[in-house]
Amino acid sequence: MKNIESKLTESRSYKPNESFKKKANINKTILFELNSQYKKTPDMFWSELAKKHIDWIEEFKTVCSGSAPFFRWFEEGKLNVSSNCLDRHINKNKKAIIHISEDNNKTVITYDELYVLVNNFSHSLKKLGLVKGDRVIIYMPTIPEAITAMLACARLGVIHSIVFAGFSSESLKDRINDCNAKIVITVNAFKRNGKIIKAKNTVDHALSLGCPSIEKCIIYKNINENTKFNKDKDLWWHDILAKESIVVEPEIMSSEDLLFILYTSGSTGKPKGIVHSSAGYLLNCILTNKWVFDLKDDDLFWCTADIGWITGHSYVVYGPLATGSTILIYDGAPTYPKADRFWEIIEANKVTIFYTAPTAIRTLMKLGEHLPRKYNLNSLRLLGTVGEPINPKAWVWYQSNIGSKKCPIVDTWWQTETGAHMIAPIPGVTQTIPGTCTHPLPGIDVDIVDDNGNSINKCNQGGNLVIRKPWPSMLRGIWNDEKRYKQTYWEKYNNKYYITGDTARLDNNGNIWIMGRSDDVVNVSGHRLGTMEIESAIVSHEYVAESAVVSYQHEIKGEAIHAFVTLKNNFTEYNNTEFAKELREWVKEKIGSIAKPERISFSDSLPKTRSGKIMRRLLRNLARGEDISGDTSTLENENILTQLKNIL
Ligand code: WT7
Repeated sequence: MKNIESKLTESRSYKPNESFKKKANINKTILFELNSQYKKTPDMFWSELAKKHIDWIEEFKTVCSGSAPFFRWFEEGKLNVSSNCLDRHINKNKKAIIHISEDNNKTVITYDELYVLVNNFSHSLKKLGLVKGDRVIIYMPTIPEAITAMLACARLGVIHSIVFAGFSSESLKDRINDCNAKIVITVNAFKRNGKIIKAKNTVDHALSLGCPSIEKCIIYKNINENTKFNKDKDLWWHDILAKESIVVEPEIMSSEDLLFILYTSGSTGKPKGIVHSSAGYLLNCILTNKWVFDLKDDDLFWCTADIGWITGHSYVVYGPLATGSTILIYDGAPTYPKADRFWEIIEANKVTIFYTAPTAIRTLMKLGEHLPRKYNLNSLRLLGTVGEPINPKAWVWYQSNIGSKKCPIVDTWWQTETGAHMIAPIPGVTQTIPGTCTHPLPGIDVDIVDDNGNSINKCNQGGNLVIRKPWPSMLRGIWNDEKRYKQTYWEKYNNKYYITGDTARLDNNGNIWIMGRSDDVVNVSGHRLGTMEIESAIVSHEYVAESAVVSYQHEIKGEAIHAFVTLKNNFTEYNNTEFAKELREWVKEKIGSIAKPERISFSDSLPKTRSGKIMRRLLRNLARGEDISGDTSTLENENILTQLKNIL
């Protein structure tokens, strides 16, 4: 752990502004009470919140049961998540979704309209024979129909698994097969950066690679674009959707029934299907929307995340809709057709809460402050970030140029596995400092421990970030892989803590600073990628003998990928520049554009120990332009370092 000592210091700090404080959902007293109630009677704390915020069909008796690593929450409770997001908000003439397309078409959908859409689509899914517990893949951009599909699944108790529409057909195929999905729902095509992306073709290709569990493919006609139609398998959304409104009784779900599977990268080549259940997940989504985003009835909340990521699940769909809020969704690129697209949308729609990733902020910062300055961004009252550590420079830029120095910034730390925010400022209370996600939320008990699992009680000393107590929205496992669940999250400290995989430190005011990952996971533009996953994609190319993937700091993306590659003997004469291009395309095809290596270096071999293990630590030093640190005496082929240094 010696090498994770922090050298970063930040002296700027910001108090919540007075007018925000006056109206905030949570003030100092409430926060104090919440924290002390949790300390004294954790079960009562969660029980009261769950009763207050969820509409139950039948109330629960126990709060948390089971033992690590398998916990159950609100076990006997019965509910339906979709009705919590819809049925209780109808007849109020309230807007649910404002959708802006890349072409700047605006659609407004009220809760009443969304209720009809979801019911009708549930009816269609039911007619296709889907029942509680079946799996459906949603491969769609962030459009109202994708949200409709999610909520329709939830209404029937069907488990959805959204695959980010930028993933390749191989990635899609792997996910379909891992969860044995019966149906895939997609669009004919969508536009991104002005280009037409034919999602249905990707689905067709995935199915042609072998997806025996798929019975039907439902296609929503999203834009005017021809698509192949396979009579045996394909169905048009508009053909199967009832013409008049049909009410489908929501399935009575137990608290612990699964709501969705979402695949994320880990430190092996195979993505893991993170599993979330119904009541607990919903509860933390609702609470964090109220506590961290200070969400109120008249807000317009824009979270720029795609529904393909957990942020889109918790802060586009389930959290905001369960609280009856109005969300804005935009399914285009941040800088298309012009670099000020975000600011234009905020002004035109009077967005009040804006939540995005540091990588987007850095991109927009680079384009210059004259762009946001052209717009009136006064409607904004709170800003948020998520996905990776935000560097203080970007934080301060965000605060002054977008937040007019008056908006609190909530830097929210959490994971696909945690379901909802774990560490984040309470905007009316917490003093914020650029670069730290500050303190754990009420009910969340985190610690920073050394490799033996002992608390590190020293300031600024890095360690492993763990969560000591179970919480309602925690993952319930990895789909079909109990062993990996235990190994990844629990075994190292004998089931004592949930292991986040992040390293962090505490400053002398108790603020938590996330330092990075402790495993082979990299974070490119806020997207989690496993280096092993990329390596296995690279070595699957017939010319490649071996590959090691590491990350290095990147001005915009946070981290970027550097792939070290050795070619099979008969291909070493190949033109490296040309081949690097080909390899990038290859990775794009295997995983998706986000995984394309920024840099590729070819060498005769890779630095290995005598036992044949690639020393990624040395490659990391090289990629980051650092001096080679630590011991190299176990290196089998020392001269390879000289060769690598020369080519970089
Ligand atoms: C990993 C989780 C959570 C939704 C988006 C990503 C990193 C996330 C922060 C933050 C520093 C952060 C962590 C975490 N991360 N938020 N505010 N500050 N790092 O979800 O793909 O599950 O990735 O993202 O490393 O473990 P994910």
